[in-house]
Amino acid sequence: MDEAETGSPFAADAAVVGLGRVGLPLALTLADRGLRVIGVDRDEARLRTIGEKKMPFAERGAEQILPKVIEQRSLTLSKHVTSAAGARHIVLTIGTPSFSHIEIDMRDIRSALDDLSSVLRVGHCLILRSTVAPGTTEFAAGYLEKRRGFSIGREVFVAHVPERIAAGRFLEEIDLLPCIVGGVGERSGEVAAELFGCFAARIVQTSPVEAELAKIWTNIFRYANFALPNLLMMDCERHGANVFEVIELINRDYPRGGIAKPGLTGGTCLRKDFAFSEERSNAPGMLLAVSRVNESVPLFLLEGAKRRLGGLSGRKVAVLGLAFKADTDDERDSLSHKLIRLLERELADVAVHDPHVESATVSLEEALQGADAVFVATNHSETRHEEVLREIAALCGGDCLVIDPWDCWGAQTVFACASELLGTALAA
Ligand SMILES: NC(=O)c1ccc[n+]([C@@H]2O[C@H](COP(=O)([O-])OP(=O)(O)OC[C@H]3O[C@@H](n4cnc5c(N)ncnc54)[C@H](O)[C@@H]3O)[C@@H](O)[C@H]2O)c1
Repeated sequence: MDEAETGSPFAADAAVVGLGRVGLPLALTLADRGLRVIGVDRDEARLRTIGEKKMPFAERGAEQILPKVIEQRSLTLSKHVTSAAGARHIVLTIGTPSFSHIEIDMRDIRSALDDLSSVLRVGHCLILRSTVAPGTTEFAAGYLEKRRGFSIGREVFVAHVPERIAAGRFLEEIDLLPCIVGGVGERSGEVAAELFGCFAARIVQTSPVEAELAKIWTNIFRYANFALPNLLMMDCERHGANVFEVIELINRDYPRGGIAKPGLTGGTCLRKDFAFSEERSNAPGMLLAVSRVNESVPLFLLEGAKRRLGGLSGRKVAVLGLAFKADTDDERDSLSHKLIRLLERELADVAVHDPHVESATVSLEEALQGADAVFVATNHSETRHEEVLREIAALCGGDCLVIDPWDCWGAQTVFACASELLGTALAA
C-alpha cells in the first residue's frame, strides 16, 4: 500500500531491527495483530530461515504465527537497516553486550543509528527495545539531533520501551506485563505508546532514564537474589551444614519474604546487565561481587566433587543440561559451558546430555553409562522425574556422586551418592 491508499507517508506501520529472541517474537506478534511490519536483520542465514517459515529458536506459539504472517506478507524481511525507514515506528532490538571493561558495548546500536540517521524523516519514531545503560536513550536522541538537526519529541520521536518478558513466554506475557515507555521530549512517549497500544498490557509513561533503570534493576534484583542462596550454599559447605535445611529454617512461616534455592545463575541478560549500572556506580564493586558469587558456582561444585571422589582425572563425568535455565534452548552465557571447561581442565572425561539445545549432545543413557559423577547443571523438567534418578542409579551404580544444587528430586542435598538420593526420593 502506498501513501495515496493509506493517507500515511509510511508504507509500513513498524520495523523491527534485530530479529533475535526479543525482536522476532515482537515482529511476529505485531504482524499477527494486523500491522504491516518490516523485519530487519543483518544475518542473512537468519533471514533465510525466517523466510522459509522456520523459527530459528524455540519460542512457545511462535511457530504457528510465522507461516501465517509470511504468507500474508504482513511481515516482510530485509537485510538493510535503511529499509526500516519505510515504517513509522522503528524498534531496535539489537544485542547490547558488555565489554570486559564493565561498560556497555554499544557498537551494534551505534551502527544501526548511523545507518538510520541518513534516512530518518519527520514523523519517524525510534524505539530502543534493547536493554541499555542509563542515559543511552538521551544519547541516541542527542546523536540524531546533532547529525540531522531534528527537534526530538516534536519532529522525530525517540523512546525507550524495555523488554521484560522472559524468553519462551512472549505470547503469554506481552498482553500482561506493564509496558514501560520513557519518551524523550514533549511527545515521544505518546507516539511510542501508539505502537504498543495494540497489546492489552497497561502502558506506563515515565522518563527515558527511569525506564532504563527499571529494566536493568529488574535483572539486577534477580541476579542478586540468586547470588545469596549461592553464597549460602558455599558457606554451608564450609561449616558442614545443609543449605536446604538452612533455607527451610529461614523461610518456614516467616512473614517477611524468603530466600530462593541455589543453582547455576547465568544467561545472556543476567550475566551482563548488572554491568550497565556498575559502569558508573556509587558503590563500585557491589554488583561485581554478586557476579563473582554466581560465576564461582561451577568451580565450587567441581571442587566439592573432586574432594569427595579424591580427584577427577580420568573419571567419567556426566553433565545434564547445557541451557542456561530450565526448558529453554538458549545456551548463551550458560554456566554449564564454564563447568564443562573446568572439568576438562581436570582431565575428566565429560559426557553431556541436553534434549533442548542445538549443540550436539549424547543421549541420557550414553551420558550416564558408567559415570563416576553426575552434575545437574540445568533443572529441565525432564531431569526432575524420579525415573532419571533410577536411571542414574542403574547405569552409574549406587555409589555414583550426584551434584544437584537445584534439588531436582527433593532429596535436599547438593552432593550425595545416587543410592542415598533414590532412598530419600522414594521415601518422600
Ligand atoms: N533474550 C532475552 O530474553 C532478552 C530479554 C529482555 C531483553 N533483552 C535485550 O534485548 C536485546 C536483544 O537481545 P536478543 O537476545 O534478542 O539478542 P540476539 O542476539 O538474539 O538478537 C539480536 C539480533 O540483532 C541482529 N543485529 C545486530 N546488529 C544489527 C544491525 N546493526 N543491523 C541489523 N541487525 C543487527 C543480530 O544479527 C541478531 O539476530 C539485548 O539488549 C538484550 O539485552 C533480551
